[in-house]
Amino acid sequence: MTEATNHVNVSSAEMTAYWRSLYPALSSDPYSKNLVTPAGVQQCKHAEIKQDYPLIGRKISARAGFMYDRSVRALQTGRYDGLISFASGFSLLSYCVAEAMKQHQSYQYVDVDLPDMILERQEGLSSDVFADLDQKILHSIEQVGFDIEALYRNDRPLKDLFPNIKAPVFVLEGLMYFLSKPCVKWLVQQMASYAHTAVVLDYWPLHALEVSTCFKNGFEYWGRDNIREQIDNALWSEVDVSGYFKPFAKIEDINIQDFENQHSVQLGEQPQLVDINTFYPVHLVYAEK
Ligand SMILES: C[S@@+](CC[C@H](N)C(=O)[O-])C[C@H]1O[C@@H](n2cnc3c(N)ncnc32)[C@H](O)[C@@H]1O
Repeated sequence: MTEATNHVNVSSAEMTAYWRSLYPALSSDPYSKNLVTPAGVQQCKHAEIKQDYPLIGRKISARAGFMYDRSVRALQTGRYDGLISFASGFSLLSYCVAEAMKQHQSYQYVDVDLPDMILERQEGLSSDVFADLDQKILHSIEQVGFDIEALYRNDRPLKDLFPNIKAPVFVLEGLMYFLSKPCVKWLVQQMASYAHTAVVLDYWPLHALEVSTCFKNGFEYWGRDNIREQIDNALWSEVDVSGYFKPFAKIEDINIQDFENQHSVQLGEQPQLVDINTFYPVHLVYAEK
């Protein structure tokens, strides 16, 4: 086999869009792959080979499935009136959730990412490959360009930025690695300022380097040479996370393999995230206030 060549201008968002659609029964997202270019697919193969990480698609699909499952469940409680997906990248998560919720009351949906990424996303979504999607749902989802670090530096209250959503479900999928610690702290405080809110996110736990050879060997890959973005603040302790989320009445913090194993069985599939040395031991969090 010839080794895949490297394309540094591919975004991490494009790569996760490919991987999240690899196991659509698990992720509930069959659509995001349509935003991926051939160069993006090639870069994913490069990452799988270079990191010796064939299960990366399974891991990203499980993460996406958790985000979808908890978002739908939160909206189904009737306590929330919208979903704000930060760092939405090329993910069709908000569309998939809106599609699942279309028989219920109407909710507001907002996708937020860096301004350039939102432009790329909008351009991609206007392609014919999305013509079969429900256009009413697709166009009802607001697309907003914000740099979250800039919001933090300027202390812009989320309530002012999203005035139409009074009780949001926030999704932060694949975001924590890119933000500075003070920015994450500020963002959690902002989310906690709502009387009713729920948050779904993932993080890389502090002990990941010690417990998983896959993580140890792969971690260095995500430097500037292989993706467009800068990984900033990659590792989090469970204590930090539970401390930040203290204002939330309920917090669930689980290992990705627990979610993948349970859902694989429900789907009649063989669990694949079994040996911790073969995948990143990501944590998945659902917090509710
Ligand atoms: C790994 S991708 C995740 C995309 C998507 N949530 C998914 O899981 O498929 C990370 C995303 O974070 C976004 N991002 C990084 N830094 C950001 C910032 N300061 N403000 C807003 N978005 C940011 C990137 O543009 C990128 O789309």
